[in-house]
Amino acid sequence: MPAISCSAPGKVILCGEHAVVYQQPAIALPVFEGSTKCSIVAKPTAPHDETIIVAPNIALKCYLKCLVEKHPIQVAINLVLQKLNIDHLPVCEIRIQSTLPTAAGLGSSASTSVALIRALSTFLGHPFTDDEVNQLAFEIEKIHHGTPSGIDNTVITYAKALFYLKGQPSEFLLPGKQVTLVIADTGIKGSTSKAVSDVRQGFQENKEVFSALFNQIGQLVESAKKSFINGDLISLGKSLSENHQLLQNLGVSCNQLDTLVEEALSKGALGAKLSGGGQGGNMIALVNSDQAEPMASALLFKGAVNTLITHIPAKGQ
Ligand code: MEV
Repeated sequence: MPAISCSAPGKVILCGEHAVVYQQPAIALPVFEGSTKCSIVAKPTAPHDETIIVAPNIALKCYLKCLVEKHPIQVAINLVLQKLNIDHLPVCEIRIQSTLPTAAGLGSSASTSVALIRALSTFLGHPFTDDEVNQLAFEIEKIHHGTPSGIDNTVITYAKALFYLKGQPSEFLLPGKQVTLVIADTGIKGSTSKAVSDVRQGFQENKEVFSALFNQIGQLVESAKKSFINGDLISLGKSLSENHQLLQNLGVSCNQLDTLVEEALSKGALGAKLSGGGQGGNMIALVNSDQAEPMASALLFKGAVNTLITHIPAKGQ
């Protein structure tokens, strides 16, 4: 029997992370240079309880029955079965492979959920719509990240640049000019749930200061949206760099992120900031496309452990 395979990209937050949890807008972009693939193949001759899960990136290889009840993969499978009113999964091997680093701000958890939910619903003969995939992937994000805004699962499900405001219909964006980003990994694992919970603690202890920071970030995102649509990369870059300073004030940057951001700006990036939960993980530098390769080299030289270059093509390209 042929395997069913479905893939999902990674993502970066262009601007607005953390504030987006507090009812401010944010912009996220899909990243196709890293992705997750889920393949499922039926094992009709295997004993009924010997469905196997293989996920080398998270060092997982076991029977499904051995996963704890709250494991995100177990929960994802149960949610798909429940939605389809199916009591048990036909015996199969589920293989999940990702080129996205974990705990790095590139959406590896949402990418895994989206690829798995898509592949499983297809394997069971009822491929879900994007809306259905997104809704279930959001449930899994809650297990990973506690109180997520929903931006990661949404940008990864629809795989389009997204202006996102919690509770509002998603608005897809096309840039007026090609947007090129160099994404550089500090190599430090940054847990999104910890970063989100640290910001929540800060907010609870100092509501006025944090609310003001969230509002400022929200205003920057509105202005970044205009620059993105109009292809004004200089002004977009300024918004990104200002956003980084506000994220520093929220307490989610770290020395390595700041060093890479400073290096990018000193080498002529139009703007640079941390991306995602922070406290490690990746930063992004907005560059002209001919600057991308030298910028990636400079960031590697300055300590980044990996870089990716991604382009969002302009409207009509
Ligand atoms: C993580 O990619 C973005 C955060 O704002 C968390 C969230 O929105 O769920 C840090």
